[in-house]
Amino acid sequence: MYAIAAAQVAELSTAQRLLLVNVGLALLILGFTAVVIVALVRRNMRQRVEAERLAAMGVATARILHQIKNPLQTILLHAEMLEDSRMVEDPAARQEICQAIVTEATRMTELLSDLSAYASGGKRRLHPEPFSLNELVTGAVRNEVREAEVTGIEVVVGPMEPLVVNGDPYFLRQALENVLRNAREALMQQSDKPRRVEVALRRRGGEAVLEVRDNGPGIEPYRLKTIFEPFVTSKAKGMGLGLPICREIVESHGGRVEVRSRPGAGTTVSLVLPLDRGVREAQPA
Ligand SMILES: Nc1ncnc2c1ncn2[C@@H]1O[C@H](COP(=O)(O)OP(=O)(O)OP(=O)(O)O)[C@@H](O)[C@H]1O
Ligand SMILES: [Mg+2]
Repeated sequence: MYAIAAAQVAELSTAQRLLLVNVGLALLILGFTAVVIVALVRRNMRQRVEAERLAAMGVATARILHQIKNPLQTILLHAEMLEDSRMVEDPAARQEICQAIVTEATRMTELLSDLSAYASGGKRRLHPEPFSLNELVTGAVRNEVREAEVTGIEVVVGPMEPLVVNGDPYFLRQALENVLRNAREALMQQSDKPRRVEVALRRRGGEAVLEVRDNGPGIEPYRLKTIFEPFVTSKAKGMGLGLPICREIVESHGGRVEVRSRPGAGTTVSLVLPLDRGVREAQPA
């Protein structure tokens, strides 16, 4: 084959040979240029990913520092007040100062446990067991009802179908509490109409749908796209981790989180979880 090709080249005129050499050279240059371009594009992409990573780290660090610095300053300020002998003598003032310290220290502890829950992320060890979602919901709602006196939020428990899922009740409760807390925090911004949150548990095919609906200010459509991103928050005292943690927990159970919201009308967050297989087979929908 090589001998045939060599013989064919020998038959070519000088001009044809020159053309062949030129074409060969052009192909070589083209190939080399392509390799250089691919290498440059790859380097550019790596640099962009690195820049994005650094920017995300910057946002996270700034938010964490801000959220830790504020309570620490309040604690320090109140601890210094306690050094004032007049304050220490007045029981009411002393109690108020101690209360402020406890509140801020509790907030810091909660922030840190949110951070560690987010950081442990995929490595979170679930201990799944079949359990009644109703009991979990009832327990979490009871806390909201208890706080209703202070918050002025009417808590309405809607249809509660008896549903069993196979999951880790500790983490699922944490996911639900994050959603309830968001509803409460959203409603606390509202003073022009009665505050209401509705919780319902329904079966949809082979899934359990746990719905938390509030009549709060809602979320603008442009913000809806980013609410699951870590460290994205509209709150002065928020870390922006509640929903990312919630989504990760629900997805690690094979479920998903759905959010519907209308500015001025309210927000509905649904935790959708696969029903326990045994229950699904015993009671087909
Ligand atoms: N029920 C709701 N009504 C209105 N806005 C909401 C609601 N739930 C979530 N959001 C919006 O989504 C953002 C992200 O929520 P997420 O729970 O992740 O963080 P956060 O509540 O701001 O802070 P954290 O939960 O860490 O204390 C909130 O800052 C808020 O703007
Ligand atoms: Mg939250």
